[in-house]
Amino acid sequence: MNMLVTGGAGYIGSHAVQRLLRDGHTVVAVDNLFRGHAEAMRLLEPQSGGRLIFHESDVGDSTRMERLMHEYQVDTVMHFAALAYVGESVDQPLLYYENNVIAGIRLLEACDRAGVGRFIFSSSCATYGEPSAEHIPINEDCPQSPVSPYGQTKLDFEHALRAWGQARSRAGEPVSIAMLRYFNVAGADRSGLLGEDHEPETHLIPVAINAALGKRDGMAIFGTDYPTPDGTCVRDYVHVEDLIDAHVRVMDRVKPGEVRAYNVGIGRGYSVREVLDAVRRVTGVSFEVREQGRRAGDPAALYNDPSRIERDLGWRASVTSLDEIVDSAWQWMKRNPGGYAGSRG
Ligand SMILES: NC(=O)c1ccc[n+]([C@@H]2O[C@H](COP(=O)([O-])OP(=O)(O)OC[C@H]3O[C@@H](n4cnc5c(N)ncnc54)[C@H](O)[C@@H]3O)[C@@H](O)[C@H]2O)c1
Repeated sequence: MNMLVTGGAGYIGSHAVQRLLRDGHTVVAVDNLFRGHAEAMRLLEPQSGGRLIFHESDVGDSTRMERLMHEYQVDTVMHFAALAYVGESVDQPLLYYENNVIAGIRLLEACDRAGVGRFIFSSSCATYGEPSAEHIPINEDCPQSPVSPYGQTKLDFEHALRAWGQARSRAGEPVSIAMLRYFNVAGADRSGLLGEDHEPETHLIPVAINAALGKRDGMAIFGTDYPTPDGTCVRDYVHVEDLIDAHVRVMDRVKPGEVRAYNVGIGRGYSVREVLDAVRRVTGVSFEVREQGRRAGDPAALYNDPSRIERDLGWRASVTSLDEIVDSAWQWMKRNPGGYAGSRG
C-alpha cells in the first residue's frame, strides 16, 4: 500500500514508518521537525522492504499534502503528528488547538480532495479525562470528558473525523476510519535503531532512565498518598512496537464506511514506584527520588480494558513485563545518551 505517515520523524511515527517499510509499503513520511528527528528518517532510509520518501512539511499545508497524496497515490493516512504535552497545552491552549485541530482539519481537506480511502488517527486515553472508579479499567464506552486542552484537541479531532466519515458515506464515497486511544506508550524498537528522544522529556520511563544515566539530578514522584496499593499513580504502559502492530491490524480490518475506536493498552497498571524499581533493576543504577505533592489533574489509576481490541482485531500486547519494556528503552538510551543529535556522525 501507499501510506502517508504524519509525524513520521517523531517517537511513535518513526516506529510506524519502520514497521510499514518492513511490511513492504511505500511510506511518505511528513514531519515539520518541530519535535521530530531528521536523523531517524536518515537511519530508516536503507531499511529493506518498502520505499521511504521523507518531506519536511507541516500537515496544515493542505495544498502540499494533497500534492503528495496524488503524486504517490496514497490510499492510507496514519496521522501521528501532534503536540502532546499536557502541561504545555494548559499554558498554550491556542497553539494546541491550532496544531492538533486546525492543522488536522487541513489534512482532512487534503484527504477529501485526494480521495484517500483510509485514515488512522492517534488519539489518547487523555480524552477520558479523570474517569470515576467504576470506569476503571477503561473501556471504549467510558464517557469522554477531557481535563486538559491536549485531551480536548484529541477529542475534537475524533469528532471532526467521525463527521467527515459520515459525510463521505452519504456522498457515496465511504472512507475507513479508525481512532486508536493510546495509554502510556513506552520502550523502543528492539533492533536498536530507533528510540524515544523528546525535548523536554516528560514521560516517566525515559525520565527515570535519564536519572540513572546521570543526565539529570534525580527525579520527583508527584503524589504518594493516592488510593493505590503503594500510594503512587498507576498507569498502563504499552510497548511502542505492540502499539504499531495494533495500527497494522486495524488498517487491514476496518471497512469502508466504518468508524472504529479502540483503546490500546496492555490491560494492567503499574505504579510509579514499580516503574522506578524496574528502572533500577534493569540499569543497575540507584538514583535520587524526591517525594513531592500531587500534581493537579493526575488521576490515581488509569488502565485499559483491552476486551474490544482483543475480540475484534485479535490484538494482545506481546510485551507485558515492565522490565522488558524498560530494557528496550534502556538499550537505546545507553547507546545514545545524547539522543538522535548525539548519534549523528
Ligand atoms: N507518547 C505517548 O505516550 C502518547 C500517548 C497517547 C497519544 N499519543 C499521540 O501519539 C502521537 C505521537 O506521539 P509521540 O509521543 O510520538 O510524539 P512526538 O512529539 O515524538 O511526535 C510527534 C511528531 O509530530 C510532528 N508534528 C507535530 N505537529 C506537526 C505538524 N503540524 N505538521 C507536521 N509535523 C508535526 C513533530 O515534529 C513530531 O515529530 C501524537 O498524536 C500523540 O498525541 C502519544
